[in-house]
Amino acid sequence: MFADVLIIGTGISGLSFAIKLAQCNPEISLVLISKDQVSEGNTKYAQGGIAVVSDFEKDSYEKHIQDTQTAGAGTCNPKVVKFVVEEGKDRLKELITWGTQFDTQKENLHLVKEGGHSEKRVVHYKDHTGLHIQEALMNKIKSFKNIQILENHTLVDLITDHHSKEKQNRCYGAYVISKKEESILKISAKITALCTGGAGSLYAHSTNPSIATGDGLGAAYRAKVHMDKLPYVQFHPTALYHKVNGNTFLITEAVRGAGAKLKNSSGALFMNEYDSRKELAPRDIVARAIQKEIQKQPEKYVALDCSEISVENWKKHFPNIYDTCATLDIHLPQDPIPVVPAAHYFCGGIQVNSNSESKLKGLYAIGECSSTGLHGANRLASNSLLEALVFSHRAALNVINALQEKLPDSSFYKALPEWKGDTYSNSVEIKEIRQLRLRLQEVMTNQVGIFKTTNGLKEADIEMYEIYKKVQKIYNQHKLTNGLCELRNMVSIAHLIIQQAQSITENKGVFYNQDYA
Ligand code: SIN
Repeated sequence: MFADVLIIGTGISGLSFAIKLAQCNPEISLVLISKDQVSEGNTKYAQGGIAVVSDFEKDSYEKHIQDTQTAGAGTCNPKVVKFVVEEGKDRLKELITWGTQFDTQKENLHLVKEGGHSEKRVVHYKDHTGLHIQEALMNKIKSFKNIQILENHTLVDLITDHHSKEKQNRCYGAYVISKKEESILKISAKITALCTGGAGSLYAHSTNPSIATGDGLGAAYRAKVHMDKLPYVQFHPTALYHKVNGNTFLITEAVRGAGAKLKNSSGALFMNEYDSRKELAPRDIVARAIQKEIQKQPEKYVALDCSEISVENWKKHFPNIYDTCATLDIHLPQDPIPVVPAAHYFCGGIQVNSNSESKLKGLYAIGECSSTGLHGANRLASNSLLEALVFSHRAALNVINALQEKLPDSSFYKALPEWKGDTYSNSVEIKEIRQLRLRLQEVMTNQVGIFKTTNGLKEADIEMYEIYKKVQKIYNQHKLTNGLCELRNMVSIAHLIIQQAQSITENKGVFYNQDYA
């Protein structure tokens, strides 16, 4: 199979990048692959919204820039922060023309406040903004004839000089699992874009779906693409303590923005002891505060007291949380919601420039799998969907130009070798994979979580090497399976996080080594 552009991942980054490319040039061929159904991924679970300056009477670009820098502990790239904040308004307008709606109040967008924001500026669609955006983009994409979508296709490896025997430092597409054909396909492409999200599944508790296993990051690692800031893993302060259908359920920061307060098991408010911004401090501060309180008390959660939010407000702005809590016998607003921090977002990833180009020519990384410089050591709430929109737009314009350049001709792509490794099987069950995945999550959660220590990182390093050796052994002895592919990526990224964490010498943003405190 050949495409001008191969896009891996179908969240907001992959879909909006594809739409923009197809709009700019209906002649180019696009193949989009998703590991599961197109709809499944982190975007769908984003509750809060998109941080965009729109009320210029109260808010300003300068304030949003300052809030982003403050949340990022002064480590964001100022140039990137500026253009992302300033370009947000146009990207939002475009998203609306593509069929997305946002809540309004009279003539204006309804704006909410989240942690680290000095003004109300988050636009949203009730409390399921991501799901609504995902659906609108999926609908829009159907109108383009030059986009082919392949569901249930998992990235295995990128095709690079290593496979082609060229020396161009270039990416030529990817090898991917087709579950339907039970085989590994070669999809060669002039341009490849990773829009594969993060790897929240490295942790026992994550707001991400279980498919967030860092597949793009793992493939980039094997292709020797530069990655940075991987240890800056953001924990969302408030995930529901009880699992919902086996998954961790997010309680959006907007609930705290609407007045909800955090209380420990003695019923005492505690955020004032940690930060003057209390519940609306940046999320690294709130997550650490909650974790500290949990360590001091018998209960493994703290309470989110929502009694200040009226039933009408719940039903209008947070119907998803309201209904989900009711299924667990938590009746809002009178009952407090038991909450815990959970792994949420990778602030680092594949290092890219301001057009989302990685250091491997022809390879772009957009959204959570990339490291653009916007987030620094800690992402500001609701800046992730914004980043995805701004960078997919910039990447698309860049790709349109890149496709005009002299690139190898079609015979070169045809001659690229088929997958040479093991074949794929849907039916093989490798028991150890589940145990190793759980062990990896345990190590990451206990030693490489919100609070780290130098010794803990050393122990995690040793333990991860043991897991890696076992994974390699399985890889060498068995046919490839989806679970094996995921585990191979997880162990690589866990290893990289631990390695990079050991070389960080000061606490900033989400990175916290107790030995430096
Ligand atoms: C939330 O709604 O609290 C999450 C939004 C985000 O991750 O920025």
